[in-house]
Amino acid sequence: MLKTHSCGELRATHVGQKVTLAGWVNRRRDMGGVIFLDLRDRDGKTQVVIDAGRSQESFAIAEEIRSEYVIQVTGEVSRRPEGQENPNISTGEIELLAEKVTILNRSKTPPFHIAREDAVDESVRLKYRYLDLRRERMQRNIILRHRAIKFIRDFLDERGFVEIETPILFKSTPEGARDYLVPSRVHPGKFYALPQSPQQLKQLLMVAGFERYFQIARCFRDEDLRADRQPEFTQLDLEMSFVERDDILDLIEELMVGMVKAVSLVPLAHEKFPRLSYAEAVERFGTDRPDIRYGMELVNISDIVANSAFRVFTENVAAGRPVKAICAPGCGSYSRKQLSELEDIAREAGAKGLAWLAIHPETEEIRGPIVKFFNTEQLQAIVERMEAKPGDLILISSDEKRVVHEVLSTLRTEMARRLGYTDKKELAFCWIVDFPLFEEELEDGHLAPSHHMFTMPKREHIPLLDTDPHAVLSEQYDLVCNGFEVAGGSIRIHDRALQNKIMQLIGFSLEEAKEQFGHMLEAFEYGAPPHGGIAPGIDRLVALMAGEPNIREVMAFPKTAQATDLMADAPSEVSPKQLEELHIEVVLPQKGK
Ligand code: AMO
Ligand code: AMP
Repeated sequence: MLKTHSCGELRATHVGQKVTLAGWVNRRRDMGGVIFLDLRDRDGKTQVVIDAGRSQESFAIAEEIRSEYVIQVTGEVSRRPEGQENPNISTGEIELLAEKVTILNRSKTPPFHIAREDAVDESVRLKYRYLDLRRERMQRNIILRHRAIKFIRDFLDERGFVEIETPILFKSTPEGARDYLVPSRVHPGKFYALPQSPQQLKQLLMVAGFERYFQIARCFRDEDLRADRQPEFTQLDLEMSFVERDDILDLIEELMVGMVKAVSLVPLAHEKFPRLSYAEAVERFGTDRPDIRYGMELVNISDIVANSAFRVFTENVAAGRPVKAICAPGCGSYSRKQLSELEDIAREAGAKGLAWLAIHPETEEIRGPIVKFFNTEQLQAIVERMEAKPGDLILISSDEKRVVHEVLSTLRTEMARRLGYTDKKELAFCWIVDFPLFEEELEDGHLAPSHHMFTMPKREHIPLLDTDPHAVLSEQYDLVCNGFEVAGGSIRIHDRALQNKIMQLIGFSLEEAKEQFGHMLEAFEYGAPPHGGIAPGIDRLVALMAGEPNIREVMAFPKTAQATDLMADAPSEVSPKQLEELHIEVVLPQKGK
């Protein structure tokens, strides 16, 4: 080794020892006759003192040294002079008096400061990712990610799980996104699909009798990217045989609590995760991934306004469309401009308008464009139902249920952000259960699965598949944290006849089903055990535990929102010879189309 200790290791107990350190020059200060260097490696920083009086030769070398040079220093550990200790770093009690300094490598001036946490344009960070990863924040995040995965592996190993790798070159395993395809050279015109998840393979491993499987699995989905979505991402993929829903929920809850306690920078809000039905979550928060760090819940006021003079509300209520509201504490003095901003946000979310009532902080007088349509009792009843206080703002939406929920959950998140509720440094997990089996009707009249087509309907709802499929609830569950879906899973169908039926309902003919999933259907005829599983998204969990707003911050080499790699410049063109070998001809879209 070119070093005897790390740059974060030396303490007062090492004083007097001769050691060798190696690392990067974090900072260099020339005090005339004495040069101070902060030497940095993954483990920390150590102050190095190069005194011309001690070694003229070392001093000459040190004069040449710049930030990010890679150097090796041998010298004696010395206690820092009284009053010059630095309590902010682990080695702050000591310094290294250099006897020999060697430059191992030189560095150009980096495109941004490595030693300082200044904001740097993300495209520059991604282009020079290897330098960005050298910075403290990214080192911390990537190491946290390692610790999380290590915790998961140990936890599951102790509980009898076997980690099994599944192929990347496979057949489409749909999770609702577009596939990435890989052309076959050997089989002209044929393609592999990269798995959107190992869903089918893990179910086949249950048929194979492994009983408890997991994998830190890479998944590939060609979809529109957002802060919490990448084209390739990592799941803890897990499947168990002979289990019921609560076995999986309990196991994952124990895993999450243990992992957060062991590695997270952000603490848990509560150790027992609340369980909400899909219906309850949507009713109270307008979404199936609620941020439960704060309240501001949706409240139904349909009955109060049903007999008012405001036609929009009375007509909607008469037609079975709800009137619901949220109460934003202390926002009652919002200006016209601020209120019209909120209305714009509501319209963007699909609203036709946004009604509001503001309660004056002192006079308690209620103002707003719809006040004139209500009598005093009605206004008072709304204020009471909303538990609104003087100075609060009530935002009201009325439309189709789906629209009201979309609008109010958007406004709830927006107001929470403005009120600083989303800055709260804690992780508030909750389970969402009892999802509908089907999400919506597609244009062709078929149903779309709410999770995926292998999800088991609730046993008592199976008869409804023929009569009222929209009413069928399933054995699907999601884990949500701070408004992000961090895991999804279900108990699976293990019966071929039932699987056939579901495939038909979602529009697969028997032939199509056989072509795409013949191997699954066939496997189910050879003693498939009852089974179920789940897949927590590692990137999202690590981002939450690191307190990062974006999953790119916890991935070593992420892609941009345009799915490109700015460092390696991927995707890129390939040679005509490669295309020829793959039997591929490229037809580019015409400009402007
Ligand atoms: P699902 O599609 O819900 O379920 O995905 C599980 C979890 O993976 C994470 N995730 C993503 N993370 C980053 N970027 C993406 N593009 C992305 N897409 C999903 C989320 C999500 O909760 N096979 C099933 C699991 C099962 O049924 O066992 C599946 O993949 O955190
Ligand atoms: P109007 O009488 O149309 O000017 O509407 C009075 C107020 O009600 C305005 O603030 C509108 O934005 C609001 N409003 C209109 N339609 C709706 C609706 N469907 N839900 C909630 N508020 C609405």
